[in-house]
Order: sequence, then structure tokens, then C-alpha cells
Amino acid sequence: MKINKIRKILNKKGKSKITCLTAYSKVMASILDKYCDIILVGDSLGMVLYGMKSTKEVKIQTMMLHAKAVKKESKKSLVVFDMPYKTYSNKLNALKNARKIFKETNCDAVKLEGGKKIVNIVKHLIKNGIPVMGHIGLLPQTSKKFKLQGKNFLQEKIILDDAKSLSKSGVFAIVIECVVEKLAKKITNLISVPTIGIGASKYCDGQILVTDDMIGMTNFSPKFVKRYCNVRKIIEKSVKKYCNEVKLKTFPSAQHVYKL
Ligand code: KIV
Repeated sequence: MKINKIRKILNKKGKSKITCLTAYSKVMASILDKYCDIILVGDSLGMVLYGMKSTKEVKIQTMMLHAKAVKKESKKSLVVFDMPYKTYSNKLNALKNARKIFKETNCDAVKLEGGKKIVNIVKHLIKNGIPVMGHIGLLPQTSKKFKLQGKNFLQEKIILDDAKSLSKSGVFAIVIECVVEKLAKKITNLISVPTIGIGASKYCDGQILVTDDMIGMTNFSPKFVKRYCNVRKIIEKSVKKYCNEVKLKTFPSAQHVYKL
């Protein structure tokens, strides 16, 4: 089952675009599962749900609770677990944690941030039957600042080398975050596995966004986020109406009351 879903993603390269979004809850997963090839339980949940300053503070136990809920509601999509900061710092702890994640959440794959530096860890996981998704360009777990990557020759070379070595290591896809269009296009044309862009142009094989940004739940709106709706406004309007009705005693009305 896992393998079939992964093969389907690999086969899409150069043929049809791969659709990905993040989910942290059962409700969101049930909506995304109808449309997305990949659902990522992203460590962005630290900031989005828990108000943390960065993803560095996210704990594996927290991620596992959310991932369990997401996986239960995802029948069609491939569910990827974003391994938190310091949970894959060497081969040993990476495999131990990945096995625990698989056992407790039943997720289909894990995502790790980094290129050449972590390639031996990635290979070790794959050798032991753990499907891995890469993540290069801007790396939120270790970057000090949120800024565009691949702007000069040196940065371009590093990111290109990261992409090549990850692709050779056996990952089934690579997220490319916040990278100049020209470089994202070059990488996509050069490597054999699908690239999934976030702020990395239309040339990637697929796209991912943080769902809460895309639906206007958060106020995070860098250039690459397209806001498809403003859920925050809709919720606010409903909350305001509810509070007014409670004060005016028009809620609950007869239809919402139990009578003997
Ligand atoms: O944590 C996350 O949501 C991510 C995506 C932004 C790719 O890593």
C-alpha cells in the first residue's frame, strides 16, 4: 500500500503535478484526503497551533499525537511525518525515532531537512525500509532568518549538490523551499525524483503550502503564499453573531432546546 502510493508519486514526474498540503488534525485530513497526493504533518504546527517562536521547540510526542489523528482520516493520500529538530542527528537516533513514529502513527514516510550533510542518515533510514522525503533550500529548523536561497553562485552550487546527493540516496521526493526560480527549474530538470516547491516556482513537479496560511487562518503571508480564502474572517463573523445572540437571548431558540 505504502509502496504503491510512493510509486504513484514517483511516476508523476514530468507527467502531472503533485499536490501537497499540511494537516495537523482529523478534520483537515478528511478534507485534504479527497484532493491531495501528499499530506504533510509539518512541524510548522509548532508556530501555527502552539504559538512557538520556531520549529526548534517542537517535540516528537506532540507531532505523533497529531500524526495519529491525521493518518486515521487519510485513506488515499500519502501521509508524511516531518521529523522534528534533533530527532535525526545521527543514524542511530534517526532510525530509532522513525521506527517509533511508524509504529505509533502508521504514517507512510518521514521528511528530513538537509542535503549532503545528512545523506548518510537518509540512506540508513531507506536501507531499513523507511521511505524518506528530502527538504532543501530554506531549512526552517536551522535557518536563522526567513530569506530567499540560491541567490549567488556559491549558494546555487550548495543547493544543487544537496539536490543531487539526496536524489541519488533514494528519497522519493524533495521539498525545495524559498529558492530562486532559475535554480528550482534547473534542479527539477536535473534530478530523477519529483521536486515539491514552496516558494520555488511553477517549475517544480509539485507544490506544497501550509494549509493554515493558504486559507487565511494565520497572518503569515510571504510572497509565495496565495490566500485562497479568509477563514479567519468567516470565523470572526460567526463568533460575533453568536455572542450577540447569547446576549440578546435569541440563542438558544426553540429549535435548539430539549422539551419533555
Ligand atoms: O513544517 C512544514 O509545514 C513544512 C512545509 C512548509 C514544507 O516543512
